[in-house]
Amino acid sequence: MHLKKIFIVLIIPFLFVSIKCSDKEQNNRNNKKLFGKLENGEEVYMYTLKNKNGMKAEITNYGATVVSLLAPDKNGKMEDVILGYDSLKSYENGTSYFGAIVGRYGNRIGKGRFSLEGKEYQLTINNGENHLHGGTVGFNKLLWKTDTFDDNSVKMTLVSPNGDQGYPGKITLTVTYTLTDNNELRIEYSGTTDRPTILNPTNHCYFNLTGNPENTILNHELKINAEKFTPVDEGLITTGELADVNGTPMDFRTPVPIGKNINNDFQQLIFGKGYDHNWVINNYNGNVREAAIVYDPSSGRVLEVLTDQPGIQFYSGNFLDGSEIGKGGIHYQHRTGFCLEAQHYPDSPNKNNFPTVELKPGKIYTQSTIYRFTTK
Ligand code: GLA
Repeated sequence: MHLKKIFIVLIIPFLFVSIKCSDKEQNNRNNKKLFGKLENGEEVYMYTLKNKNGMKAEITNYGATVVSLLAPDKNGKMEDVILGYDSLKSYENGTSYFGAIVGRYGNRIGKGRFSLEGKEYQLTINNGENHLHGGTVGFNKLLWKTDTFDDNSVKMTLVSPNGDQGYPGKITLTVTYTLTDNNELRIEYSGTTDRPTILNPTNHCYFNLTGNPENTILNHELKINAEKFTPVDEGLITTGELADVNGTPMDFRTPVPIGKNINNDFQQLIFGKGYDHNWVINNYNGNVREAAIVYDPSSGRVLEVLTDQPGIQFYSGNFLDGSEIGKGGIHYQHRTGFCLEAQHYPDSPNKNNFPTVELKPGKIYTQSTIYRFTTK
């Protein structure tokens, strides 16, 4: 009798817990697969996240990159709405930052130079005379360590040593992707440093809401909640000015098809070869708010971008020219994908009037950005 009691009280719950764990491990094995191997033999994995509505996201720990994202159209048809490649090799060789986390600094730093606490720093130069998206070997070209994952989320960490690409401080950056039952891909960032530095990572997904990247994105209707944008010079370095969008092709306060004014004879569009600018999102106060909405009339898909960041870079895929061969062997042509990169303004370290991107030891960098899908 006594023994029976012990069995019921101790052994049964123990058995239950072990069955649960092995279930979970089984699950984990099912949604983790080998994506490929790097030259040095390191294994790279692909994690498939799912939600209860049938959405799916494939994420690899190479560059903490979103490789595919299936979202429903107005008839419930699931299609991949982001650009990317089929193989790890293509991610290693690619130059377009498809789906990756870019860092340490999303977008450009003029001449790759800045000073911090009286010290000058020279970063690697990889875009004309400037530093772009973290430099020659940015976070998009590094293998991240997967901390944990389950059916709908994956958490990855990258340690970037002091001096990496010229930046001071050893950075530890964690990114968690979660696919929610509200049809959102949520991206949460958390970073620390061991000495004063700057940090401004972003995600570089290219979207094509038609679900067919052979279509351009020019019919997509875009709304950006911004009264101002940050004009650039011919090297796409911000001038420091915050300019009114009013009366210009940069005005997306009410929805405008991306293609409507993109070829206008407007200096900023000429410099950008189209849209490649940062907008100053209204109501920057540390909270997540709606930054932009994109609607594709052909599929009925709507993408809403929410973020706690001060700015968003809207890039209309101007450098795509057919030379990148993407998923399914498709040559990605001019303007067949757009990016909405939540971030601080480009070249902030050299602009005193822009919100600061400094990170000090003991402080934690955080960012929350959400890509939410609906239809209409
Ligand atoms: C960003 C930049 C663009 C371009 C793309 C990647 O959006 O602003 O100029 O470099 O990334 O091709």
